[in-house]
Amino acid sequence: MMQKGALNIEKIREDFPILKRKVSGGKSLVYLDNAATTQKPLAVINAIHDYYMNYNSNIHRAVHQLAEEATLEFEKTREKVAEFINARSTEEIVFTRNATEAINLVAYSWGRTNVKKEDRIVITELEHHSNIVPWQILTSEKGAKLDYVGTDDNGYLKLQEYMNYLESSKKKKVKLVSVSHMSNVLGTIVPVNDMIKMSHEKGIPVLIDAAQSVPHMPVDVQKMDCDFMAFSAHKMLGPTGVGILYVKKEILEKMPPFIGGGDMIKEVHKYETRYNDLPYKFEGGTPNIADVIGFSAAIDYLNKLGMDKVREHEVELTEYALDIITKVKGVTLYGPRNTKDRGGVISFNIGDIHPHDLATIMNDHGVAIRSGHHCAQVLMERLDVAATSRASFYIYNTKEEIDIFVSALGEARRLFKI
Ligand SMILES: Cc1ncc(COP(=O)(O)O)c(C=O)c1O
Repeated sequence: MMQKGALNIEKIREDFPILKRKVSGGKSLVYLDNAATTQKPLAVINAIHDYYMNYNSNIHRAVHQLAEEATLEFEKTREKVAEFINARSTEEIVFTRNATEAINLVAYSWGRTNVKKEDRIVITELEHHSNIVPWQILTSEKGAKLDYVGTDDNGYLKLQEYMNYLESSKKKKVKLVSVSHMSNVLGTIVPVNDMIKMSHEKGIPVLIDAAQSVPHMPVDVQKMDCDFMAFSAHKMLGPTGVGILYVKKEILEKMPPFIGGGDMIKEVHKYETRYNDLPYKFEGGTPNIADVIGFSAAIDYLNKLGMDKVREHEVELTEYALDIITKVKGVTLYGPRNTKDRGGVISFNIGDIHPHDLATIMNDHGVAIRSGHHCAQVLMERLDVAATSRASFYIYNTKEEIDIFVSALGEARRLFKI
């Protein structure tokens, strides 16, 4: 029996062929690695298939019918993305390969123009490597510095530290704040609206790494008032190979190009080039046409469910899972306990079982969880662990699956005599 909640899970699961497959010698697949990447509904798979079967062509260039059809579908996705996050215009939406490339684009283009020696960039201890390494590269090249806002023992950011960095921003010239909206390890939902407001009071722009938030809750870039936002299609039912960079138009207009080549130009002469309009100036070379078109179907799917409902469903699952897991002997949980402040990502350790061993036992039960440092080694150092296990939920997960996951945990405890 499926639970009756915010979403009709039984119906949703019908749309995901992969959820029917068996793993580990005939076990039903329990896919709890959604923070890494989500599964794809048939609509997305079919949209990609349809493109290759019926109108495969390059975009923006030729005038033949196939090219026109492909261009139309590609640009329709851009419109849907803009609408999904409530951007003012499609000119503010740049397609990249992933969230990582989107953040790197800002570091290379905006960063190299605006960050100078002795300047500071403020990030936090709970960032994914994608929101650390590009800033390390930039600051070391420029002789600038990185400042980290710390986290407390419950997985919340130490906002007083953040305010202190901003307060000292005149003297220390803070040029940018770059922060994750939701931690991929702790699940913490960061109070970005307040942080952006505080930062803007000092005239400092803010980049939001929304890789874990846009797929799981309603996000409105105008309400939030962020200057940059990055996320990936593959974490929200879409294909791999498509990232999204949102930049406020007035900022994007002043940014130099990232990758030079075809499509990002208007005119090229021997010694000079006139760049294309926004956002094409930032999309050099043939893009990932098929997967951008596939992403369109993913957005349609989420819109049909409603992002409020998606969030509601994940809160329900997380509440249910936290309730049970906290009672399992030997478990250490990381991140906020209150589901109002967290998403459907649960990181934990159990006794001294190595997370990789635990993930292997889980796999024997058909349960796919993640183990390791989750590309957040700065946070692992803060938590004083080498690795954690992580279960992460999405629209197709059920309470029954959480029960299977918990019973596999019990099996691991028995095996390791905890
Ligand atoms: C918070 C966060 N930021 C950035 C990324 C990077 O996403 P991608 O690998 O799609 O570039 C991830 C992926 O796990 C993430 O969780």
